[in-house]
Amino acid sequence: MLRVTDFAHQALRQTVQPGDWAVDATVGNGHDTLFLAQLVGPTVRVVGFDIQATALAVAARRVAGHSQVSLHHCGHECLNQLIPPEAQGQLAGVMFNLGYLPGAPKDIVTRTVSTLSALNQALDNLKIGGMVTMVIYPGHPGGEQEANAVRDLVRALPGAFSATHAARLNATHPAPELLVIERIKI
Ligand SMILES: C[S@@+](CC[C@H](N)C(=O)[O-])C[C@H]1O[C@@H](n2cnc3c(N)ncnc32)[C@H](O)[C@@H]1O
Repeated sequence: MLRVTDFAHQALRQTVQPGDWAVDATVGNGHDTLFLAQLVGPTVRVVGFDIQATALAVAARRVAGHSQVSLHHCGHECLNQLIPPEAQGQLAGVMFNLGYLPGAPKDIVTRTVSTLSALNQALDNLKIGGMVTMVIYPGHPGGEQEANAVRDLVRALPGAFSATHAARLNATHPAPELLVIERIKI
């Protein structure tokens, strides 16, 4: 079965090119970080954030050999502060996979206020043609409130952005949803 995370990868494969800058805003165990590192190629071009040191250690092992990845033990709300000056306004792809890390404590979870702050910072730093993908999970405690706030922010974006929403229509439980937001002009 196709998952919304597969659609996110598909969209980014068409967008992020070798030499581009990319951000993994929720590194976790580093699967998406590795995916982005493989897209951008062998220069210093992927920046990752997570608040869990243990997850970052797993991610660091996963991306070992990809010298172009810099991982930060800091929330994604640090994006503006920690991306290098040459990446500012030049991001081709930013991935968010919200919620909690499977296998880790479920109270270590993304939160509405920092998610909205990070999403705004990511959008501000997209180059034209760049894309944010965000997988949102309405099913866990606090997840619906976060999902509502994100959808509201995205619905109100100006015409410089094009936003697409995908979700399984015949799910019996709250299903993950994908938002893909492209910057189409300044
Ligand atoms: C669904 S998991 C991400 C899975 C990850 N993409 C992977 O490939 O393993 C969500 C992650 O968001 C992290 N997280 C929670 N709050 C965060 C924040 N403010 N900034 C960055 N990451 C955060 C959690 O620690 C968790 O690792």
